[in-house]
Amino acid sequence: MTLNTTTHRNSGTRRRGRRVLPTLAILGATLLTGCQPVTQSLSIGDMASAYNREIWWMSIWAIALSIIIFIGVSYALFYTVQKFREDRHDAPPAQFHGNNKLETILVAVPVVIVILLSVLTVKSMAVLNPTPNQATKIDVLAKQFWWNFAYPEVTSDAGGVVTNGNEMIMPTKEAVALTITSGDVIHGFWAPNIGGQRAAMPSVKKTWQVDNDRAGVYQGNCSQLCGASHANMRYKVIALDQDRYNTTLAAMKAYRAPEPAPGSAEARGYTLFMQGKASTGATSCAACHRVQGTPAAGVQGPDLSFFGTRRTLGAGMWEAMTDAQWTDAKAAEELHAWIKHSPLVKPGSLMPTYDGSEYMVKGKMVKGGTLTDAEIDDIAAYLRSLKLPEEADYWKGTPVQGAPNGGTQ
Ligand code: CUA
Repeated sequence: MTLNTTTHRNSGTRRRGRRVLPTLAILGATLLTGCQPVTQSLSIGDMASAYNREIWWMSIWAIALSIIIFIGVSYALFYTVQKFREDRHDAPPAQFHGNNKLETILVAVPVVIVILLSVLTVKSMAVLNPTPNQATKIDVLAKQFWWNFAYPEVTSDAGGVVTNGNEMIMPTKEAVALTITSGDVIHGFWAPNIGGQRAAMPSVKKTWQVDNDRAGVYQGNCSQLCGASHANMRYKVIALDQDRYNTTLAAMKAYRAPEPAPGSAEARGYTLFMQGKASTGATSCAACHRVQGTPAAGVQGPDLSFFGTRRTLGAGMWEAMTDAQWTDAKAAEELHAWIKHSPLVKPGSLMPTYDGSEYMVKGKMVKGGTLTDAEIDDIAAYLRSLKLPEEADYWKGTPVQGAPNGGTQ
C-alpha cells in the first residue's frame, strides 16, 4: 500500500555546467513517470468511452473550423496590408464609403460560422445527455470526504440496497446512468475515463450517462473544493466485462457478512464494532457504518460490507493495487492508524478517535474514547474478514489503467 503523495527528488539547483543535463534528464524522467511512488493518473480523452469520443470529435471539428477562420482572416489581413500599403508616388487613394457587398459578406460569414458551431454543439449535447432508460443505474452520494455507490435495482437478500463505499463497480460496453447527489456541501464527480465531470449538489439529483468499453480500474476524484480533505476525496471506478459484473453483483446481492468463529480476533472485533466500549467512551462503528447481513445499518459513513475485498482506505488516501500490498504489514499499520485516529490522518474526517485525542465536530473540539492497540487490531481483523467470495473479487485480474508503470504493483 502506498501513500498517495508525490515525492519529487530534487537534484539541487546549484549544480551547474555538465551536471545540468543529467539533472534535466532526472527531472524529465520524474515528470514522465508522474513522480514516485506512482499512482494512477486521471486521463482525459479516453477513447474507450463513447462520451469522450463525442467530445473529442466535437473538439476536432471546432478546432478545425477555428484554424480555417484563422487562416482566412490572416490571409485577408496580410493581403490588404500588402496591396493597400502607402506608396510615396501614389496619388491619394480614392475616397468612398458604404460597400453593400462587403458589409453583407462581413455579416453573413460570422452568422454561418456561429450556425455551424451551434449545430455541432447541439448535436453533441443531444448525444451526451440522453434520457437513460436501459442503462444500469447507480446512485452516487458524495459526502465530506468519501463516496457511496448504491445499486437501486439490486436489493440484497439480507435487506437493503446493495451499496459499496469509495469503489464503484460498473459494466463495460453499456450505458451507466449515474444519479449524483451530495449529503452536505457541493462536490464534483470526476472520473474522466468514463466521461467528464458533474457537480454533486445537496438536495439535487442529477442523472448522467457514462460508459467505457475497456475493463479496468480507473481513478476518480472530487473536483470541487469542498473542505479540508477535498484532495483526499478519491474513489475508484472498476469497469468489469458483463459476465464478471453479473457475478460480482450477484455475489453482493447474496452476501451476508461472515459470522466470526467464537473466541477469534474477528469475534472480539465484531463485538467492539457493534457495541463500542462504554467503559472507555469508545463509540460503536455500527452507529455510522453499514455491514450487510448484520445489525450494523449506519449511514453516516461509507458502507463497509465488502471492506475486505476493497483495496482503498480512507477514500483513496491509501491504495493497494495487488493482494500482497493489501495484506502486508504496511497496510496493517495504515489501517491500524486509520481506526485509531482518522481525524489526525485525514483532516476533517468525522470519524471519532479511539486513542483519547481531540478532534473537531461542527467547530467544537471533542475528546474521543479509547481502545487498546490490541482491540483496534481486533476491529481491523473483523473488517478484513468482510470479503466477497473469490470469484466476485472485482480487483483480481482487472488491469489498472492510467498508471505508467502498472500502478503500485
Ligand atoms: Cu468533495 Cu472536493
